[in-house]
Amino acid sequence: MIVSIASDHAGFEQKQQLVESLKDEGYQVVDQGPQSDDRVDYPDFAVLVAMDVASGRADRGVLVCGTGVGMALAADKVAGVRAANIINEQFAELCRQHNNANVITLSGRFVSFEENKRILSAFLTTEFEGGRHADRVAKIDALDSRGAGK
Ligand code: RB5
Repeated sequence: MIVSIASDHAGFEQKQQLVESLKDEGYQVVDQGPQSDDRVDYPDFAVLVAMDVASGRADRGVLVCGTGVGMALAADKVAGVRAANIINEQFAELCRQHNNANVITLSGRFVSFEENKRILSAFLTTEFEGGRHADRVAKIDALDSRGAGK
């Protein structure tokens, strides 16, 4: 599985640690940066991972900022991306089982690395249940083409 990952300065340290643990676990990792903890704007990095997933260059995406909220808001603007801001393992499983989330956004400031590692593992290993959830996810995806007045 190819995993694209990025952060901002607030998520940089955990992003570096997650890159190493993903590689150790055998995932193919695309590190979209940044490569230092210099101050950056999270949407500039969210879009890199979102485009990797939307284009099929990566199977899943991971974004880390202070809360994970800004990354989710930005990534979800890209058509085909279903990004979820997750702070516990159960939600990580549910966002896969019910929502078929393809990008997870994590908090580097409020959730420990060990917990984020468990959350990410659940996200990457849990399958979408399909069935009744498939129609609902299709309705989410249909919103990709909606804009003001449509
Ligand atoms: C940066 O200070 C912070 O706003 C950012 O990392 C993130 O938490 C935004 O949602």
